[in-house]
Amino acid sequence: MVETDLYPIIFKRKSIRNYDLTSLDENTLKEISNHLQTLKPIYEDIKIELRIVSLYMVKRRIMKKAPHYIAVLSESKDGYLTNVGFMLQQMDLFFSERGIGCCWQGIPQPTKELLNSSNLEFVIFLAFGKPSEKLHRTDVSQFKRKSLKEITDIKDADDLLEPARLAPSATNSQPWFFTGDDKILHVYGVKPGFIKSLMIKKYIPIDVGIAIYHLKVAAEHFGKKVTIFFDEPAVKNLPKKSEYFGSLKME
Ligand SMILES: Cc1cc2nc3c(=O)[nH]c(=O)nc-3n(C[C@H](O)[C@H](O)[C@H](O)COP(=O)(O)O)c2cc1C
Repeated sequence: MVETDLYPIIFKRKSIRNYDLTSLDENTLKEISNHLQTLKPIYEDIKIELRIVSLYMVKRRIMKKAPHYIAVLSESKDGYLTNVGFMLQQMDLFFSERGIGCCWQGIPQPTKELLNSSNLEFVIFLAFGKPSEKLHRTDVSQFKRKSLKEITDIKDADDLLEPARLAPSATNSQPWFFTGDDKILHVYGVKPGFIKSLMIKKYIPIDVGIAIYHLKVAAEHFGKKVTIFFDEPAVKNLPKKSEYFGSLKME
């Protein structure tokens, strides 16, 4: 099966927070459910469950409602949050390409019923449904993001790095930094100060996983084969106040 090139979607996607609350039709939900089975992990050995649930499984607090949610439950071991970011962002771009709205939801919590239905750890929700606002941005200037200069010291690889720059992140914190070149690229997450770390620590590895996925989509768009690996020298040559997450080899 030929995979859809999601590269163009990266330049127009956005979080959707207003939904038509009627349920999507059965065929569409079946297609989404089938697509969930095709998502690629970074780490094959981490057990993960991505489940379509309805609103009543979500303790919403102050959030706006959506008709459906994907609940992510995962085994909790090294790299699991980055793995979740990498996998669930595949759904974010898939939805946006199919005309369906979605939004990562870090604040809402699962009901006891949902928690007790699995022995894996609950990680996060992705809300989705028919949007009742504009689905896409029409220009890159509509993204509120750091400049490339602030997130990388790599020159001459803008086509590859721009998609990582545009990636979504919790509270739009964009906690990433990239070194290397267009053949081997190292990915770091910003190490937050004490106070910030209490609030956003869980999200940084997820955000970095999202950015890694955007880099992979970009590299594949330009005809490269991507391998994600752990590079010992990159662990030692940390940029200031950062943490190493992984590297991409692009051939
Ligand atoms: C891990 C994660 C958690 C998020 N949690 C929430 C949330 O609880 N509520 C919300 O409205 N948006 C949430 N967002 C969406 C971000 O606020 C949004 O991606 C960011 O502001 C960039 O905007 P954009 O997605 O429209 O490009 C989350 C995003 C990520 C990646």
